[in-house]
Amino acid sequence: MSEAKIHQTIADAMIRVTEAAAIAAFDLAGRGDEKEADQAAVDAMRTSLNQVAMQGRIVIGEGERDEAPMLYIGEEVGTGVGPEIDIALDPLEGTTLTAKAMGNALAVLALAPRGTMLFSPDVYMDKIAIGPGYSAGVVSLDASPAENVEALAKAKGVSPRDISVCILDRPRHQNIIDSVRSVGGRVVMIMDGDIAGVINTTDPSTGVDMYLGLGGAPEGVLAASALKCIGGQMEARLVFRNDEEKSRAKRVGITDLNKLYTLEDLVTCETVFCATGVTKGGLLDGVSKSSRFVETETMIMTSIDGSIRRVRTRRPV
Ligand code: FBP
Repeated sequence: MSEAKIHQTIADAMIRVTEAAAIAAFDLAGRGDEKEADQAAVDAMRTSLNQVAMQGRIVIGEGERDEAPMLYIGEEVGTGVGPEIDIALDPLEGTTLTAKAMGNALAVLALAPRGTMLFSPDVYMDKIAIGPGYSAGVVSLDASPAENVEALAKAKGVSPRDISVCILDRPRHQNIIDSVRSVGGRVVMIMDGDIAGVINTTDPSTGVDMYLGLGGAPEGVLAASALKCIGGQMEARLVFRNDEEKSRAKRVGITDLNKLYTLEDLVTCETVFCATGVTKGGLLDGVSKSSRFVETETMIMTSIDGSIRRVRTRRPV
């Protein structure tokens, strides 16, 4: 473990931060404007983060400085007094879900001591994840989806037909889908939100055994923080569509563009993961509002002691 520590008070302060982003985004739910909903979440998260006594630095945020005026990669947040903390955030995970008032949108962030979380560019990431309880290396990105389904089925002591794989519903995933089904595996499609897709592998009640496919790299690091707290395995590889994306990676210090990242590479030290539901989903309830109160549900977990808490907050409006 590193010398640096995330103090419990800072971890707890994050509940207020994701709550604020979720409440702000919820006001725009179902109004058809993804950008407006995202901006509301960004503004609220930034205002709230700047009230926390820490020297925070954004390692995963809304983009590079020239394209994102707020919560850009490298931006310093917090009061400037207190421990040096790196922050990965996604103020609104599921902008389309929110704009259409569909379930499963979240406000998310992760903390880690300075320099211990991958400084990830905003490119795609190929991901595989499974929950806890399996021997190391049972699945791998270097194996085919079919081989991974068979390996996991063997480790679980079931037939490949009993293995369910969560995959984002995108045309680019047709080969993965075909490969999973070729050995009898079940595909559970999601429209958006692969952070929750990865987390679902850790909860037997979801019925999801494995997550596979390409999603955002920032979401990959956030999901890795969650898995590091709950337990599980993950491998990832950055995927570049053009030279501009490769330059983006180089600008944040990535030299090996083909590196296969393990969970320990993505988040090397202790971490805190915090998410508040925006719209109701399998992982968390969404924001609910009455004329007098606003209620939220937040999940906060830490790899420091392995604790997972669900916090319901009711505030007067
Ligand atoms: P946004 O909230 O930024 O829209 O991201 C939603 C999401 O589904 C992520 O969970 C996922 O990693 C990514 O989009 C996948 O990207 P794409 O929509 O380009 O396939």
